[in-house]
Amino acid sequence: MGYIIKKIISPLDTYRQIQTNGGLLIFVKGLVKRPYYWFLQRLFHFDKWHTMPIEHRPYALELCRYVNELIEKEGLVNVVEIGCGLGEILARIKVRQRTGFDVDENVVLAAKSLHKKIEFHKGTFGDVRGCDTDVLIAVNFTHNTAPDELQRQFADLLLNNKVKLIVVDSVEYTYLHNFATIFGDKCEKVWQSREFEHKRTVQVYRNRL
Ligand SMILES: C[S@@+](CC[C@H](N)C(=O)[O-])C[C@H]1O[C@@H](n2cnc3c(N)ncnc32)[C@H](O)[C@@H]1O
Repeated sequence: MGYIIKKIISPLDTYRQIQTNGGLLIFVKGLVKRPYYWFLQRLFHFDKWHTMPIEHRPYALELCRYVNELIEKEGLVNVVEIGCGLGEILARIKVRQRTGFDVDENVVLAAKSLHKKIEFHKGTFGDVRGCDTDVLIAVNFTHNTAPDELQRQFADLLLNNKVKLIVVDSVEYTYLHNFATIFGDKCEKVWQSREFEHKRTVQVYRNRL
């Protein structure tokens, strides 16, 4: 019974949460995409998580809306995403130069087949080197990394690359990260989203270069 109630309430809740980012049209687009993503999952054998399209992930829609506003306001030209999955966030970001890294080779292959104008690589933090990056995105995977390890990964990344803005999220899973502590006074928080499922918030930090 609980399962059935959840199956009814969950899409209604998603629909309520995406009202400010497209509403019904976006919701229906997500429904249409689902069977195609199931098919791709069978073909490329990536994690089933990716069959949930971005249209049904309110935090990701909100992130894209805010980052696109920043891009327009500040004339930003390139974006790098770590943990990019199928590249759905990158696909909604309005800059010419978009690069995605993911540790899962299968999802990288699927992403390449979906988005020809985006560059994808198998890789993670340490594989981003010598980049002049306006926006670096790392969301919805860092909750599995312990704070001191994550701090080390970001410190290395900021040492090896010129990054202006960093987009991260905190969510109440294994580790609910405090990015103000992780970045210290190297970065200043410029935006935080409203709260989504499991106390998730998306945050944007400006690197004091
Ligand atoms: C839950 S998905 C989120 C995808 C995307 N960030 C989004 O929010 O739409 C997490 C992705 O991060 C990748 N991932 C997990 N740990 C990673 C790491 N340390 N470095 C790079 N990618 C990682 C996984 O393979 C997966 O594709």
